[in-house]
Amino acid sequence: MITTGLENVVVAQTALSRVDGERGGLIYRGYDIHDLARAVSFEEVAHLFWYGALPTRAQLDALRTQLAAHRALPDAAWPILRALPPNTAPVDALRTLVSALGAGQPFTRPDLAQAIALTAQVPALLAAFDRARRGLAPLAPRDDLDHAAHYLYLLSGRVPTEQQKRALDTYLILLADHGLNASTFAARVVASTWSDVYSCITAALGALKGPLHGGAPARVLDMLQAIGAAENAERWMRDALARQERLMGFGHRMYKTADPRAEILRDLAREVCAPDFFALAQHVEETGLRLLHEQRPAERIYTNVEFYSAAVLHAVGLPKDLFTATFAVARMSGWTAHILEQLSHNRIIRPDAEYVGPLVQSVIPLDQRK
Ligand code: COA
Repeated sequence: MITTGLENVVVAQTALSRVDGERGGLIYRGYDIHDLARAVSFEEVAHLFWYGALPTRAQLDALRTQLAAHRALPDAAWPILRALPPNTAPVDALRTLVSALGAGQPFTRPDLAQAIALTAQVPALLAAFDRARRGLAPLAPRDDLDHAAHYLYLLSGRVPTEQQKRALDTYLILLADHGLNASTFAARVVASTWSDVYSCITAALGALKGPLHGGAPARVLDMLQAIGAAENAERWMRDALARQERLMGFGHRMYKTADPRAEILRDLAREVCAPDFFALAQHVEETGLRLLHEQRPAERIYTNVEFYSAAVLHAVGLPKDLFTATFAVARMSGWTAHILEQLSHNRIIRPDAEYVGPLVQSVIPLDQRK
């Protein structure tokens, strides 16, 4: 039997995160996502994934020190940064830069030290790229800011406000891991061949950039900006659906009820967005859900994580073409933890395909073929 899109096919065991699509639940190693979003930092979540437990104060300090030690722009990034065309999408720049970091390195299987180093380097790579395309030099790293705040600092040169920092930190926690999503699966497939960490993350980034996965939030903002005012929402969305387009920020393979991350992000967006913008987003969300339920009553389509991700990332000042790459800043913790988990009980991931081509053909000599 073929299951297109591997829907409901279980191909691995994981102790990292569990998505309960029927009830709208998400846990990381047993901790409810609502509790984590409220009570811990992104670094604590990364520790939870990498070491199996939330850190003590001393363990958290040690992890922060380790992350801070890898915040400088790696030398291997410089020539690539200069060579990238200025209109390169940030997620493409990141994919290219991560791949380049692996060039010339001894070939080793991924380990925890690499996971931590690369997680710290990704924001530095992105910020250096973003500044370079604006004609600005990269900023020297600081060791007195948390991961989220430091990323915003490296981009703008300003220490973010407490609200901006907390908003991005919460976003990073919510997007850190999500079961066997397409990019995580891609990373695990590459890891299963005993390839290196750079190749695993490069593959994951390639999967993430697609609009059916992490490429959606910029398109959500495009949609909100194109709609512009609440009274235009229904016409705009009906027209898009009539053209067989997908409404970005709605629908999910796993969730057949509200996505808990979308609900937390909606509350966060209410706090951090300009009131007019939030009101527009909420109206567009309600209109989209109404039209999708009207036109596809058999599908259980709800708001997904990307809808309010777009609003929150916009509110903390990120340009929309950085949204997908910022998703990667969060997902680095989950990807690397999955890579290490895959290697801890590895078997090469090698599914089968049903062959549907012809069974017998005779080779016609080249100059006799028509
Ligand atoms: N807008 C319009 N139609 C949608 C839709 C959306 N956002 N989401 C699902 N549908 C429709 C599909 O077109 C499909 O109809 P069809 O069978 O007539 O082609 C049906 O609902 C089932 O969707 P399907 O693509 O099979 O569901 P899936 O589980 O494979 O896909 C997504 C999930 C996320 C890829 C899908 O909902 C989607 O494309 N959403 C928009 C992109 C997005 O927001 N991505 C971010 C994901 S976090």
